[in-house]
Amino acid sequence: QHSIQSNTTWKTPSNIAIVKYWGKRDVQEPVNPSISFSLSEATTTTKITASPSEKGGFTFLLDGKEQGSFDKKIRKFLELAQVRLPLIKDHFLKIESSNTFPHSTGIASSASAMSALAFCLADLQHQITPENPLDISEVSSVARLGSGSAARSVYGGWNLWGRLTEIPESSDHYAVPVPVSVNPVFQKFHDDILIVKSEKKPVSSSAGHALMNHHPYRNGRIKQAHDNTLNLIKYLETGNLEGFIEMAESEALSLHALMMSSTPSYTLLQPNSLLLIEKIREFRKTKDIPVSFTMDAGPNIHLLYPDEYQKEISGWQEKELQPLCEKSRIIRDNVGNGPQKI
Ligand code: PMV
Repeated sequence: QHSIQSNTTWKTPSNIAIVKYWGKRDVQEPVNPSISFSLSEATTTTKITASPSEKGGFTFLLDGKEQGSFDKKIRKFLELAQVRLPLIKDHFLKIESSNTFPHSTGIASSASAMSALAFCLADLQHQITPENPLDISEVSSVARLGSGSAARSVYGGWNLWGRLTEIPESSDHYAVPVPVSVNPVFQKFHDDILIVKSEKKPVSSSAGHALMNHHPYRNGRIKQAHDNTLNLIKYLETGNLEGFIEMAESEALSLHALMMSSTPSYTLLQPNSLLLIEKIREFRKTKDIPVSFTMDAGPNIHLLYPDEYQKEISGWQEKELQPLCEKSRIIRDNVGNGPQKI
């Protein structure tokens, strides 16, 4: 009935978690709640062109080139998503993507990639069948099927994914904006990504999540993340930087400690990751400037600080931190406004 091609393009952000999602159950549901903020500069732009085709199918181009290595992940995602997005079954999808940052480095490229796919598909479905459009929590839920952290990349600002009985609007199926008004200190927060190593990481996040199933610290970790989530929401509201710093660093190091204590165990940190951590902690102590760090599942260090300290931090960053980065590379980012239709 609809023989014409349709297309749409969306630009969506990556995000950086402060309370980390680590471990899943069933179909991409988290074992613990997590909180992140969406980034402004680290984004994926994706165009999907849908052509009617009885067999379905897709092709994926990254920066204009066919990228077979992502086909399996996309195929699995499309299979799960077609329940809510029937166009997947009877259209051939040409997916064209580009990132503003290197993929598979521990910068969550899957978060921006999968949220971009979800927005494009929701939009195309709406073009084809205008009745019953997906609302934003359904887009988040679809994004989650591709990559858990992508559930949090459908909004700007600070977002929560994972059910806590204390927060009635929270869900394991989709993310919601944090249920408080965020203090100005955290509204223009910076995340400068210090690139320690930009190679593809040796152990994927999916493999890492799976190792949590029988992890000796599993229950302790779930409790820790639950408590940290409730406390972080309080800190975000009151502007408690001291509490934030303590927790952000503990979450980052706990994530890596869980990897180190998995069976089999593995390490993603590099010597320069640890040197950077030492430098950051020393600068904070001696200068009394509220700068801290977090990490994703990779060796890079994310430098976190409120906007008002940017000047004091930039000189030190250039002199002390940049020399420890691969090719002096730093990606300067901050809290972003969220997805955008192009
Ligand atoms: O979304 P995934 O499956 O790539 O997992 C991401 C996990 C972390 O980035 C390490 C933490 C998080 O909450 O984003």
